[in-house]
Amino acid sequence: MQSFIPNAQDPRKFRDALGKYATGVCVITTDCPRGPLGITANSFVSVSLDPPMVLWCPARYSRRYEAFTTCNSFAIHVLAQDQLELARHFTGDGLDFAPLKWSRGADDVPLLEGCLARFECENYSVTEAGDHAVVIGQVIRAATREGAPLMFLDGRFQPG
Ligand SMILES: Cc1cc2nc3c(=O)[nH]c(=O)nc-3n(C[C@H](O)[C@H](O)[C@H](O)COP(=O)(O)O)c2cc1C
Repeated sequence: MQSFIPNAQDPRKFRDALGKYATGVCVITTDCPRGPLGITANSFVSVSLDPPMVLWCPARYSRRYEAFTTCNSFAIHVLAQDQLELARHFTGDGLDFAPLKWSRGADDVPLLEGCLARFECENYSVTEAGDHAVVIGQVIRAATREGAPLMFLDGRFQPG
């Protein structure tokens, strides 16, 4: 095992080390003045069971940062193995919902079909942390179905 001191000039090794942690893949959605908005993220983490809370981390350089840090509500969708296209779709500008099956939940938050789990959240807190923010959501409703998850490891989707 080779140790190193993470440094901002050469973030590659730090990114690679973080990439050793296998995660699921989510799409976070909210309603913004331009309409429904989504973003692909793997920074989703459970925080609290009572009250039910989860978090994710939007990047400060993202064009979607303001929308996701100032919204009142958002939804987190945990993607299934067969939703790789959806994951790729929301790495784009996040505004195109026309080809998707979706509806509106509480506070007009866009809800996507076909995911493994969905958490409808009220925005509980936003804390700046380096080049990201930590957004904690209080979960007001959740849904699940059976199925295999889409995974992300070593900087790549692992569609199975
Ligand atoms: C697997 C995966 C996980 C990602 N996780 C996050 C994340 O947790 N937070 C984030 O801000 N962006 C994340 N991104 C990047 C966004 O999906 C998107 O590509 C980026 O925000 C594009 O920049 P823009 O928002 O300025 O258009 C992730 C991308 C991929 C492919």
